[in-house]
Amino acid sequence: MNKLKAFLCGSVLLAAGAMAVRPAAAAETVEVLHWWTSGGEAAALAVLKKKLESQGVTWQDVPIAGGGGEQAMTVLRARVTGGNPPTASQMLGFDIQDWAAQGVLANLNDIAAKEGWDKTIPPSLQAFSKYKGTWVAAPVNIHSTNWIWVNKKIFDDLGLKLPQSWDEFIADLDKVKAAGKVALAHGGQPWQEATIFDSVVLTTGGPTFYKKALIDLDPATFVSDKMKTVFERMSKLRSYVDDNFSGRDWNLASAMVINGQAAVQIMGDWAKGEFINAGKKPGVDFLCARFPGTQGTVTFNTDQFAMFKVGADRQSAQAKMATDIESPDFQSAFNVIKGSAPARTDVSDAAFDACGKKAIADVKEAQAEGTLLGSLAHGHAARAAVKNAMYDVITAEFNGSYTPEQAVKELVSAVAAAKQ
Ligand code: GAL
Repeated sequence: MNKLKAFLCGSVLLAAGAMAVRPAAAAETVEVLHWWTSGGEAAALAVLKKKLESQGVTWQDVPIAGGGGEQAMTVLRARVTGGNPPTASQMLGFDIQDWAAQGVLANLNDIAAKEGWDKTIPPSLQAFSKYKGTWVAAPVNIHSTNWIWVNKKIFDDLGLKLPQSWDEFIADLDKVKAAGKVALAHGGQPWQEATIFDSVVLTTGGPTFYKKALIDLDPATFVSDKMKTVFERMSKLRSYVDDNFSGRDWNLASAMVINGQAAVQIMGDWAKGEFINAGKKPGVDFLCARFPGTQGTVTFNTDQFAMFKVGADRQSAQAKMATDIESPDFQSAFNVIKGSAPARTDVSDAAFDACGKKAIADVKEAQAEGTLLGSLAHGHAARAAVKNAMYDVITAEFNGSYTPEQAVKELVSAVAAAKQ
């Protein structure tokens, strides 16, 4: 009896010991690869991290710096090829489809059905989140690239109004330059030049031209006079940047506008995240506007978390992450900080500032008008190979290695080769 007692006692002690360590050992974990490393981006991502942590899910962070995500995608490729995918990875547009075709993404259909994603997430986003009818990614937001971000004081001091057309924009930039200020804050990296290109194509040719060129990849459109004008305009914009632009990160270019060193940045609405993170207010410290001459059209990109096929021990945490991302409270809290519009159409705009409300309204209008077009620069117009081929031509021309005449010809051959 005594022996039994001692045995039972020991077992209870052992069990208690096991219980004491078990919560850590059995804790649910998500390992998340992303490129949200700037101040505004990290602040937004922290909303998701905290939400999951409040549900007992440990966040294992895999941040890979580099706007636009090129470096992150290189790391991801190495990890998946090595048989070690993360639980989830930030991903853009056609990249999601390419990974889904490889058969490495998880099936989120049960969660999507339970939470009604089909009804609340717009079809233009679903086109990227679903592969052959299966949900493989959870969309976080709707960003767009055709914005300008303006230092209000510089514009006020020079008596400038927000430009409504290309010519007005150039007139404003000329005045800033004449006043001895940097007119355009720019970071010389291919994806940033491509981001400007989205807007210049749109303002020069309108939505139909944009679609024919960057989505349909029509060779005749590439060699058109209009496309030559696009490149001439890219060179014109190049004349407003400072000498130290080469290689500069996008958020440092935003900081130049925030600090009053430069008047304007042409950038997607993640730039607003930097202004907000720096304590700046729209309408007071800075102004947001659609790139002059592109009102009514939205060149969008949607950040999504593609979910990878993971072992049974990770699946419940992965499901929690997917569910949290689409919850309306998260969609509002995250996107208010990130600068984007929610990925769901049923989220109130009450908590958003004036630029956020405009982003939401513009997306809605563009959707109704059929002018919600995928951004080339951010992987929503063409697959990565074509996108990268275009990056090369755009950057070479911007930096003076090609004339506009050469650039249109290069565009035709580079895209044709990349399509094969
Ligand atoms: C984009 C992404 C945005 C923002 C930006 C700069 O590709 O969609 O969320 O992070 O890169 O890093």
